[in-house]
Amino acid sequence: MKSADTLGLVVLPGCWAALILRRLHVACGGVSWRMAPNQKADKVAGSGADSILVTGGAGFIGSNFVLDWLAAGGGPVVNLDKLTYAGNPANLAAVASDPAYTFVHGDICDSELVAALLREYRPRAVVHFAAESHVDRSIVGPEAFLRTNIDGTFTLLRAAREYYGSLTGEERERFRFLHVSTDEVYGTLTPEAPAFHEETPYAPNSPYAASKASSDHLVRAWVHTYGLPAIVTNCSNNYGPYQFPEKLIPLMIANALQGKALPVYGDGQQVRDWLYVLDHCRAIRAVLERGRVGETYNVGGGNQRSNLEVVTTLCALLDELVPRSQFKPHVQLVKYVTDRPGHDRRYAIDARKLESELGWRAQESFETGLRKTVKWYLANSAWVEGVTSGAYQQWLSQNYAGREVRSRATAVEERTTIVAGEGSR
Ligand code: NAD
Ligand code: TYD
Repeated sequence: MKSADTLGLVVLPGCWAALILRRLHVACGGVSWRMAPNQKADKVAGSGADSILVTGGAGFIGSNFVLDWLAAGGGPVVNLDKLTYAGNPANLAAVASDPAYTFVHGDICDSELVAALLREYRPRAVVHFAAESHVDRSIVGPEAFLRTNIDGTFTLLRAAREYYGSLTGEERERFRFLHVSTDEVYGTLTPEAPAFHEETPYAPNSPYAASKASSDHLVRAWVHTYGLPAIVTNCSNNYGPYQFPEKLIPLMIANALQGKALPVYGDGQQVRDWLYVLDHCRAIRAVLERGRVGETYNVGGGNQRSNLEVVTTLCALLDELVPRSQFKPHVQLVKYVTDRPGHDRRYAIDARKLESELGWRAQESFETGLRKTVKWYLANSAWVEGVTSGAYQQWLSQNYAGREVRSRATAVEERTTIVAGEGSR
């Protein structure tokens, strides 16, 4: 793992600086930073007009973004990540010794650290992924969601405003703060309702969605009040490599490969609009390059599927790709379990603004993206084993042990009763 840079010491010449920096832990604002092994002594790796500061780059979407960005020659990246259970430096092993990549182990709520990173690296943009991101965890323990998603975003905005205020000329012209958000801020849709567009009123239903909605509002306020050149993207459900197996698709793949139950919440008829993660990364790049300041852009692939459809498609793919599995047909592992409280019924994204203004198009269909994803998980069983150790097992028992298993007919009947109750209110 690499870690951060130092303040003030970067002016030291040549290899002396490297030697000193590699040995010193420099206390800065109560935070101890270490020199990254790959850093050049006469230059702060990642600094300069072309660098970007990414937060949460060791998570699912962030790591795909960093890998894609560096592969495309996007310029130096500084990645600030706290490495919660969802952050994994192994995701970035391929770029660990790339001089254009710098990892900083730290918290976005640490205002001194964030301010110092901006001062030192002088990034041309902040791409803000860092968040607590799992709805079920937000139901069990909302505190961390309020802290990171709201306080953390506030901390970044405050530091970005000060940094932006210090910029002049071209540096000031170019600077962008890109806040990566979710379609869940819009709430839930009925089956016939039109997809979410950028003017759909916010109506978040889970603690996760409420915390993301709050952060979106903060970004909006910083644009309107302080003139910070920020842009928000609201994306639908992502899937692809490096997704932590607490989310639907990787959880189902991991469980199916071990012959474990595939826990479908409620009647499994909730709809999500799925997007392959690299299509999301491409959208973020387009917004960063050509998006209009102060705007929000919805990102989605137009792939609405019920959860049951997703799970049965995954089962069929596993039957095909693991022909000698003792658990075939994998669909026999499906179990209907107690629903998620406040479970949003349907999400769907209208991405026409992004398509028409910025020329973005999803390159993967759900079928091609899902096949790639399953193949990735099959080829990377060591990665899955690495992230499904102790703490993960604890989460599984916390989230699933109390969920009752029932027949599909009972699950459908329960749903009918809920809908009737809602109608009579
Ligand atoms: P993730 O949970 O996989 O990764 C989050 C990353 O943030 C991790 O690396 C974690 O260590 C880091 N982090 C958490 N708290 C931090 C803190 N206080 N300081 C610094 N780093 C911290 O999340 P993801 O699925 O990659 O989502 C990334 C962003 O995209 C989030 O803002 C999320 O709301 C948004 N988003 C996700 C999806 C999706 O389907 N996954 C869809 C739309 C939008
Ligand atoms: P998830 O991947 O947690 O994303 P989100 O809640 O942000 O949409 O869940 C996707 C859908 O899958 C959601 O409707 C809940 C459902 N789901 C299950 O049915 N079983 C599970 O074990 C999980 C984790 C999710």
